[in-house]
Amino acid sequence: MNIYSMTRPKIVAVDGPAGSGKSSICATVCRDLNWSYVNTGALYRAVGLLAGDRGVPLTEGPALSRVLHEFAESARWEHESARLFVGVEDFTPRLNTVEAGNAASCVAKMPTVRDALMPHQRKLSLTAPRGAIVDGRDIGTVVFPDADLKIFMTASLEQRAMRRLKQIEKASGPTEFSHDDIMRAIALRDQQDSQRDSAPMRIADDAIVFDTSHMNLEMAIESLKELLRAKGLVK
Ligand code: DC
Repeated sequence: MNIYSMTRPKIVAVDGPAGSGKSSICATVCRDLNWSYVNTGALYRAVGLLAGDRGVPLTEGPALSRVLHEFAESARWEHESARLFVGVEDFTPRLNTVEAGNAASCVAKMPTVRDALMPHQRKLSLTAPRGAIVDGRDIGTVVFPDADLKIFMTASLEQRAMRRLKQIEKASGPTEFSHDDIMRAIALRDQQDSQRDSAPMRIADDAIVFDTSHMNLEMAIESLKELLRAKGLVK
C-alpha cells in the first residue's frame, strides 16, 4: 500500500452497459452507507447537452474544446442533492432524456472530451468524505485502475431496455419509443461504447462480474453491499 492509497477515500469502480442498473443501485447503496455517488455518465451527458445548446457539432474537436472550457469553468455538482448545474442552469432534469444519452455517446468517443472530464471525475471522487462509488464505462480500467473494488455490472439486453424505457418515461413522460426501439438503440450504444478507440468499455481483468438480469432492485442493492462488506470496505 502506498501513501496515496492510505489517504484517499475508498473507491469502488462500477462499469457496465446502459440499463444494467448501475445508477439506481449505486445511488441507493451510497445513500444507505453515507458514501458519495459519482455518476460519470452525467458529466458526458451534460457536455453533450451543452454542446447542443451552443450549436456545436458533437464531433468537432476544436469547437468542443470551447464547450469543455465553459463546462470546466461553470459546472458544479451538488453531492447531497445529486444535482448538476452549468452556470445557474440546473441540467439535472434533462440528463436522463434520449437526447442527452445520444449526445453523450457521441462526445464520449472524442479523446479531447475524455481527457478533459478525467480530472472532474477524479476530483469528485477523491473529495468524497467517506468512500465513493463511481459508475461509468472505463472507471476500473482508466479513471481508477487502483480502485479498492471493481465491479462490471451487466444484465440481458431485454431487461436493460425495459429499465431504460421506465427511466425515460420517468424523466420525460410518455414516449413514442417502443421496447424494441430502445433495445435497438441500446445495442447500438453498447457497440459504440465497446468498440471506440478511446477508452472502450471492457471488463477490467480484476473486476467482479455482477449480473442483475434476475435481481430486483432490493436484491441487487443487498448483493452490492455484501460485496463491499466482504472486501472489508464497510462494516
Ligand atoms: O451511463 P450513461 O448511460 O449515463 O452514459 C452515457 C454515455 O456516456 C454512454 O454512451 C457512455 C458514455 N460514458 C463513457 O464513455 N464513459 C463513462 N465513464 C461514462 C459514460
